[in-house]
This record gives sequence, structure tokens and C-alpha cells, in this order.
Amino acid sequence: MWTRRALVAADRGFLVALEVALRWAALPPGLREMLADQQVTARLAGWDGRGAAAEVVCVGDAPVAVYVSRDDGDDRDLVQLDVLPAHQSRGLCTWLLRGEQRLVAARGGAARLRVARDNDRARALYTRLGWVPVDDDGTSLYVAMCWRSDP
Ligand SMILES: CC(C)(COP(=O)(O)OP(=O)(O)OC[C@H]1O[C@@H](n2cnc3c(N)ncnc32)[C@H](O)[C@@H]1OP(=O)(O)O)[C@@H](O)C(=O)NCCC(=O)NCCS
Repeated sequence: MWTRRALVAADRGFLVALEVALRWAALPPGLREMLADQQVTARLAGWDGRGAAAEVVCVGDAPVAVYVSRDDGDDRDLVQLDVLPAHQSRGLCTWLLRGEQRLVAARGGAARLRVARDNDRARALYTRLGWVPVDDDGTSLYVAMCWRSDP
């Protein structure tokens, strides 16, 4: 059902539309695209600077999600995972994370991500998949979570 491929320059319009749909939808048209475009520029620079691999997940030829990850020795950092609203709750994130978990189980390291503390749905999903908080002091805006095959 889903395929993954490397992000290419022509995906920029998709990234802006995704950013608008997830984070700027309440703003007036025009303004939201402008802010989303700036955000995409910053994100692309950040991914590049961290040496992360940016991919899109497609249904047929149509991109529906962005997935950015990087190797850190045996460990894996999951840098960004955003799914178009119309394609959420279909198991896409579960599919991607199970793939990461298989990779990490084979290599023996850990997979890590950071999630906003108020993103209850994502945190519950990660917890269901076996991810656990790391060094959580209960106050910071983001919670670091980790998955390893030998917890
Ligand atoms: C959080 C996010 C990445 C999850 O991705 P997703 O593809 O919707 O996740 P899944 O479909 O695997 O699982 C989500 C839900 O669908 C359910 N589900 C899984 N497979 C399903 C299927 N085949 N049919 C119906 N529901 C399914 C899961 O049980 C889960 O239940 P929930 O609605 O109670 O959370 C996505 O919602 C998103 O992009 N959110 C906005 C941005 C964001 O928060 N990014 C994460 C930052 S760390």
C-alpha cells in the first residue's frame, strides 16, 4: 500500500501543503503558505545540517507523509514524521516504526525520537509500540523516547 523514496526538490510543494495542513490551517490563505514555506526552508536546512535522510511515503505516486531519520553509529534518530491528516489512522506510522524497530533489533542499538509533551496521541501510539521515555523530568516541552529490542 505504501512506498518510500528519497525526498526530491520537486516535493517542496508537498512539504508546504503538509506543513499548512498540520500546523498553519487556522491562518488566512496566503499568510499560512508564506509561513509554511519559511518553515520548510528551515526544516530542510536542519535535516541537511544533521546529515539526516529525508524520505516521502507515497500512495501510488502521491506523497502522503514525510519521514526523516539518521544513523548515529548503531543507533537511529527519528527526526521528523508527519502524515497528511486524510492519511492518518491508517497504520502508516505503525508500519514505519515497526520497520525501524526491525532494523534496530537486527543491529543491536536503539531508536530515538522526541515528541511534544502535549502530543498525547503520538505519545500513546509510541508507547503502544514499546517506546519508553528517557530521562523525563516531567517539565520540558519535549519528551525523548527510545526503543531497543532488549529493554
Ligand atoms: C502522530 C502521527 C505521526 C501518527 O501517524 P499515523 O499514520 O496516523 O499513525 P497510525 O495510523 O499508525 O496509528 C494511529 C492510530 O490509527 C490506528 N490504526 C492503526 N492502523 C489502523 C488501520 N489499519 N485502520 C484504522 N486505524 C488504524 C492506531 O491504533 C492508532 O490509534 P489512535 O487513533 O487512537 O492514535 C500522525 O498522526 C501525524 O502526522 N500527526 C501530526 C504530526 C505529528 O504529531 N507528528 C509526530 C511528531 S513526533
